[in-house]
Amino acid sequence: MNVEIVDDYQALSATVAQRIIKTVKEKPDALICIAGGDTPLGVFSALVDASRKGDVDLTQAAFVGLDEWLGLSKADKGSCREMVWGHFFDHLTLREEQICFFDGRTAAPAEECRRVDRFISDRGGISLVVLGIGMNGHIGFNEPGAATDTYCHIVDLDAVTQSVSAKYFDQPRQVKQGITLGMKTILEANSVILMASGEKKAAIVAQTVREPATPAIPATLLKSHPRLQVVVDKPAASRL
Ligand code: GLP
Repeated sequence: MNVEIVDDYQALSATVAQRIIKTVKEKPDALICIAGGDTPLGVFSALVDASRKGDVDLTQAAFVGLDEWLGLSKADKGSCREMVWGHFFDHLTLREEQICFFDGRTAAPAEECRRVDRFISDRGGISLVVLGIGMNGHIGFNEPGAATDTYCHIVDLDAVTQSVSAKYFDQPRQVKQGITLGMKTILEANSVILMASGEKKAAIVAQTVREPATPAIPATLLKSHPRLQVVVDKPAASRL
C-alpha cells in the first residue's frame, strides 16, 4: 500500500481535488463517487472553486453517493445527502440526471440498492471513488466483517459507527442501519483514493497500512485494487 503523505488538510484536499479534475479532463463523462463525512469537505470546496474559475468542466460528469444513514433524508442535518448537497452540489450547476444518491428514507431499501447499482452499470462503472475511513476502518458503511462480494446493500451499523455518528447530527439520533455501495462496487471502480486527515485517524491508518487484507479492517480490502492511491496528512500519518 503506497501512502502519499502531505503536510496538512489543505494540501490533502488540493491533492485529491486535482486528481478528480485530472480524471474528468481525461474522461469528461466520468462517474465519480465521493464519500460523505467530514474528510472530503475541503475537496468539495476546492472543486467548487475550480469549477467557478472554469478550471474543470463538470457538465458531462456524473456523481454517485457512497452511503447514507437509513431513515435520514436531506432534511436531516448531518445526513450524507444534506452534507454533500450543502457543501458541493448546491454550489454547482448540475442537472438532476447527473447525480444518483441513496434515499435514506426509502420504503423499499432493496429496490433502492438496485436503482443505484443500475445507475452505475448504465454508465459503464465508476471511474474514481474517493473514500474516507471510519474510526473502525469502515469504507462507506462496509463495516468490520464486511464481505468482498457485495454491491449496494443494507448494513447493520457497528457500535463504533453508531457512537461516532453523533458528531454529524444536531440532535440525538438512533442510527442502526446504513445503505452503502458494497466492497465489490468499490473494487470494480477504475481507480480508488483513500483519504484520511487528523491525529484521530492515525491509529486506524497505521493498522490499515500494516495489516494484511482482512474483513476485520475493511479498508485493508482495498489493497487488492491495482490503482489505489492513499493520501493522508501528517497528523494522520503520525503512527506510520
Ligand atoms: C462515515 C461515512 C463514510 C466516511 C467515514 C469517515 O461514517 N459513512 O462515508 O467516509 O465514516 O467519516 P469522516 O470523514 O467524517 O471521518
